[in-house]
Amino acid sequence: MNQGSADKTRVDRTARKTVGDFTHPDPRITCRNVSVHYGDKCAVRNVDLDIGRNEVIALIGPSGCGKSSFLRCLNRMNDTIEGCRVSGEFRMDGNDLYDPDMDVVLLRAQVGIVFQKPNPFPKSIFDNVAYGPRIHGLAQTRAGVEEIVETSLKRAGLWEEVKDYLNDPGTSLSGGQQQRLCVARAIAVNPEVVLMDEPCSALDPIATARIEELIDELSELYSIVIVTHSMQQAARVSERTAYFHLGDLIEVGATDEVFTKPQHKLTEDYITGRFG
Ligand SMILES: Nc1ncnc2c1ncn2[C@@H]1O[C@H](COP(=O)(O)OP(=O)(O)OP(=O)(O)O)[C@@H](O)[C@H]1O
Ligand SMILES: [Mg+2]
Repeated sequence: MNQGSADKTRVDRTARKTVGDFTHPDPRITCRNVSVHYGDKCAVRNVDLDIGRNEVIALIGPSGCGKSSFLRCLNRMNDTIEGCRVSGEFRMDGNDLYDPDMDVVLLRAQVGIVFQKPNPFPKSIFDNVAYGPRIHGLAQTRAGVEEIVETSLKRAGLWEEVKDYLNDPGTSLSGGQQQRLCVARAIAVNPEVVLMDEPCSALDPIATARIEELIDELSELYSIVIVTHSMQQAARVSERTAYFHLGDLIEVGATDEVFTKPQHKLTEDYITGRFG
């Protein structure tokens, strides 16, 4: 990895030490000394954080504090952004995510992502979900693909609404349905981890509640990392919360403690609405 390139900015300001325990007793992904730069600009600075098995962890903090930049490291989506440099160590079940031999397409299936704005492919509802399993060879027959599509849509809580319209375009669905379709697409390839970057910010309260229920159900099978601007949402869905501020991971801990007894002044200011 591009270890040397981070050094120039690292001398500008020493990272703040994170308050709280950034480790997890049963980690799925471990991130150590993670920095993200865009050109000369440092967006994430020396962050250590574990993502636990089957946990829901919320990343919160003011706009521009580096939540999305950090999240995109976890499935190497930052690789696709020109001028973006990532340094540090990322391991999933011990394997280096940034190993030059890593199959990035496979990694992005294992660590799926759902974005803020629903982005179904310009394909049918069926093909949106079937695409990943087909390219990864998860089913050999049409019946096998159909089964994966049905299971994934059921898990995403969308099956009943779309089962008679599977050949309609994904884009013909409502925003909330499209987001559940994107969740179905992400889980169709048997991920280990699902990343969600403000998955509800384009949704109404009912569609939001549906996605939150879904997060709860999915956490039985996957680890979920959710970026959210809604502290109520973080409190409702997550077990742990990580508070970022200007690229530093300021505090991490059990969600109820971070919200009721924040240890760091910056966390307190943010959650009490004095900042952000
Ligand atoms: N593609 C990019 N090119 C250059 N700078 C970027 C790029 N993406 C993000 N940045 C910068 O990196 C910093 C962190 O941005 P990031 O999008 O990670 O923040 P965020 O916490 O997700 O913010 P928001 O809550 O607004 O989504 C910001 O200063 C931003 O301007
Ligand atoms: Mg963001």
